[in-house]
Amino acid sequence: MSDVTLFETAQALVEDGKGILAADESAPTIKKRFDSIDVESTEENRRDYREMLFTTPDVASYISGVILFDETIRQSAADGTSLVKILQSHGIIPGIKVDKGAKPLAGYPGETVTEGLDGLRDRLAEYANLGARFTKWRGVYKITEEAPSSASISANAHALARYAALAQEAGLVPIVEPEVLMDGPHDIDVCEAVTEEVLREVFAQLAMQDVLLEGMLLKPNMVISGTECPEQADVEEVAERTVASLQRCVPAAVPGIVFLSGGQSDEVATAHLNAMNQLEMARPWKLSFSYGRALQAAPLKAWSGKTDNVAAGQAAFMARAKANGAATLGAL
Ligand code: 13P
Repeated sequence: MSDVTLFETAQALVEDGKGILAADESAPTIKKRFDSIDVESTEENRRDYREMLFTTPDVASYISGVILFDETIRQSAADGTSLVKILQSHGIIPGIKVDKGAKPLAGYPGETVTEGLDGLRDRLAEYANLGARFTKWRGVYKITEEAPSSASISANAHALARYAALAQEAGLVPIVEPEVLMDGPHDIDVCEAVTEEVLREVFAQLAMQDVLLEGMLLKPNMVISGTECPEQADVEEVAERTVASLQRCVPAAVPGIVFLSGGQSDEVATAHLNAMNQLEMARPWKLSFSYGRALQAAPLKAWSGKTDNVAAGQAAFMARAKANGAATLGAL
């Protein structure tokens, strides 16, 4: 697999006006989402829900790629067509989450390190055969008085870089996702400092492992006030401080930065992205989205597990996709 392919895939994922749908919820996470609409998390219901999203007419105008979960990349629609084929036929690039989740970091209560490196080379080869062209791995950092520790920052960055190098070896674009969680009473200054420390270590490790920056995407959190902080930074401040932090830490060779929504409401996540793309500040990378909840909250509710609601669910998904597509251009 050539570097050109990696570069082209990364570029295609952040084409103007488009971004990524993260639909890679693990079994426990999708169960949580289904619990909220009182739908049982069976294999068929999970398939029906994701089939609804992926077959939304014309959504490829705003969605460049979809991140799948292991179960989904092997699933077929009700008519027997594989979900991967359905995405490909719409011109949407299939991707796959390859990490095995954030597990307790020994010696650091409350902190985690993401696992999944053992056997990853073989799993990547299989996913490439199944049609995936890009991948995702998420490291998670919680902010408390003690955390994140340098042990967690270092261990997660190392794993992210090892993963990214293996993904590129398999010809798959790695989405490198270091997520500093927004939960907690900390203010935006603390989020900024932690985010920058994490990003610096991630890019140091990526350099150490010879990861091709032109053939990857970064999926970071925004620089934002903690959810329980009494003083909440407004949209303009979040936009400016996020871009300023990224300017300090992310090399210009990275083609795109695709934000996670991380629990922000769908409208706020869109407003933040739009505001960033309206700034006069230098942005050498594309700024786009790889939202899970901020794209799915509305369609999930509109669908509520009923076949009769498929059109309503698709309309809700289309509305969120279109708004975020516009936000990548600062056009809202
Ligand atoms: P959220 O946008 O809901 O944070 O999900 C994105 C994601 O893929 C987290 O790993």
